[in-house]
Amino acid sequence: MEVYEKLDQIKLEAEGHIRVVKTLHALNEVKSKYLGKKGSFSEVMKLMKDLPKEDKPHFGQVTNEAKQVILKYIDDQKLLIEEAIVNEQLASETIDVTMPGKKFETGNVHLLTKVREEIEDLFIGMGYEVMEGPEIEIDEYNFEKLNLPKDHPARDMQDTFYITDETLLRTHTSPVQVRTMLDNDEKGPIKIICPGKVYRRDDDDATHSHQFMQIEVLVVDTNTSMADLKGTLLETAKKLFGEKREIRLRPSYFPFTEPSVEVDVSCHNCNGKGCNICKGTGWIEILGAGMVNDNVLEASGYDSKKYQGFALGMGVERIAMLKYGINDIRLFYTNDIRFNKQFK
Ligand code: PHE
Repeated sequence: MEVYEKLDQIKLEAEGHIRVVKTLHALNEVKSKYLGKKGSFSEVMKLMKDLPKEDKPHFGQVTNEAKQVILKYIDDQKLLIEEAIVNEQLASETIDVTMPGKKFETGNVHLLTKVREEIEDLFIGMGYEVMEGPEIEIDEYNFEKLNLPKDHPARDMQDTFYITDETLLRTHTSPVQVRTMLDNDEKGPIKIICPGKVYRRDDDDATHSHQFMQIEVLVVDTNTSMADLKGTLLETAKKLFGEKREIRLRPSYFPFTEPSVEVDVSCHNCNGKGCNICKGTGWIEILGAGMVNDNVLEASGYDSKKYQGFALGMGVERIAMLKYGINDIRLFYTNDIRFNKQFK
């Protein structure tokens, strides 16, 4: 009978269509093409009215079975499509651990900070405390209490940026030592290291800068001698420039220390034979030092009959330049990334 053939044909055609569908959306479209209100099945159902009454139940049953078969095709295909979607997603999200990673630029500590921290660590290891103070100072702490009254000729040694008659940009970190001595209510022993920026009216060139970094050291106690200073200097020289270093003290003058010395270290480049770094002498001057002048102790309330002390001061740039073979102090401040990166 013609309608049954038609049903078989629809089933066959639907199967072919459904099997090749790749998306859920397309599958829905195929579903309504066959089973929807205006679909092929609705068309077939219209033929029912022309059938003899006794044939109608059988026709109904066969149509229904055919519908179930097509629904089954659709369900099966739906599962296949869903599985394919999941597989595709898994494949696209797979991480290839052999691919090269994204490189992040990381910064590094500035060489001056590095050298400063190295020196701080050395002194912290010997029981010192790190003290800091303001860069804008009063004349009294920067000069007067350090045995440099207003008319003292040695003030010329440190050409000063004055802000007013009484305030200035500190020319050294010694005022931090004054502050620490004044603040010490019991007038007891002191063992400090004072790092920080200092300012002098210098014309900038390869070896001078109007702003640089200094580290000063102060020890005040009741039984301190030049031997303690010497031991500390030797330890510092070895730590900074290598175990084989020796030191040499030459008499010098600073208003705040008496006696005062200039400290040389045997050249780390040529081991004292003479080269261009030590200008053929075998020795390199690295810092100034001395026994704290009685006037300095007294000006900050210490009894100079009971207490003595030693102090030393060094330029961090100079140490870093010697250690790393840097020939221009301006490289520290111009922030050329190619310079900074070399000290990672
Ligand atoms: N304050 C001195 C300067 O800046 C350095 C120094 C410190 C010298 C301690 C001797 C003792 O010139």
